[in-house]
Amino acid sequence: MITKRHALKLAVALLTSAAASAYAADTGPIKIGLILPMTGQSASTGRQIDAAVKLWMAQNGNKVAGRTVEVILKDDGAVPDATKRIAQEMIVNDKVAVIAGFGITPTALATAPLATQSKTPLVVMAAATSSITQASPYIVRTSFTLPQVTVAIADWAAKNKIKKAVTLVADYGPGFDAEKFFDSQFRLDGGQVLDKLRTPLRAPDFAPVLQKVIDVKPDALFVFLPSGQGAAFMKQFAERGLDKSGIRLIATGDVTDDDQLAEMGDVAIGVVNSHHYSAAHPSATNKKFVAAFEAANKFRPNFMAVGGYDGMRVIYKALEATKGAGGEALLNAMKGQVFESPRGPVLIDAQTRDIVQDVYIRKVERVPAMNNGLYNVEFDVIKAVKDPGKQK
Ligand code: PHB
Repeated sequence: MITKRHALKLAVALLTSAAASAYAADTGPIKIGLILPMTGQSASTGRQIDAAVKLWMAQNGNKVAGRTVEVILKDDGAVPDATKRIAQEMIVNDKVAVIAGFGITPTALATAPLATQSKTPLVVMAAATSSITQASPYIVRTSFTLPQVTVAIADWAAKNKIKKAVTLVADYGPGFDAEKFFDSQFRLDGGQVLDKLRTPLRAPDFAPVLQKVIDVKPDALFVFLPSGQGAAFMKQFAERGLDKSGIRLIATGDVTDDDQLAEMGDVAIGVVNSHHYSAAHPSATNKKFVAAFEAANKFRPNFMAVGGYDGMRVIYKALEATKGAGGEALLNAMKGQVFESPRGPVLIDAQTRDIVQDVYIRKVERVPAMNNGLYNVEFDVIKAVKDPGKQK
């Protein structure tokens, strides 16, 4: 019989041995454990990041510091218990140098203690709740945070004749961040939030909340939903006639996601939103990235893909700097990196381990020069935005 106490001792021993015998710093392949939702409701995030990681390796090779880089991809279905179990196996058995991926906030938070205990750098390529980087000193983020992108659209709204708004967010971490930072900035700018609505993360039904919006009749509805839910939301928004109701739709770019924009159709046209990446970002670096990504995948990269691509960049450069050493040295080599991403210039803040980046105000338009496709066309930029969630 294993008592509770024994089980605890065993778990601690396992983790201690992980800390001692994990990643072999000088021989064999360097392994990167990539944990993504390849199935279930967040599968598009997994598909995008997996494709971006493969593109990075096709372009930059599978050798760093004279050693072969091996990516081990595992599907967690966006279920936190699964993420944690997979991470543990990767750290203890596969002896990975880094764990990366993390499609949604709960999976990153569940795994954070393992990163700390085993001193394994954890690179968040997708999840975007502000507090994630505070859950372990071994976490580095290459995606974004909801406060970082939300303040810009609240500000834009207040300056563009929107006086009364209703917020609608997914009922979990990033949604709470979006709701809170929209509310505070919009009120600071003289606006008024008439109601705050939430929908469940899993299998949301937008009908009841949209009916509420019709009843309250604000100037604008502000929406944050995680990548993968935008198209279903837009469909119901149009079906209920909200697109013709005079209530303006504004959002974070998670809703007008490049992965789903094409299938949304005309209802999306004119939606003003703020985010850190658009496939239509007009830089040479991005044009090259999008062309290579589309040639390899037959679909358009979205902001998740860029988080994965830049995550690989951060890992590769750090491994080069440490000559393949892992642990704290590798973590330190990730801090302070500055580079030109397909999204624009970025910095991995050495203090917060979070990403500092430009945030763009965009409008969904048909772009004749890009096959007449629907794109988020950037028309304003706020430079070098730090996560406001950390400026207490
Ligand atoms: C999250 O769970 O942190 C998350 C997921 C998808 C998004 C944004 C945030 O588009």
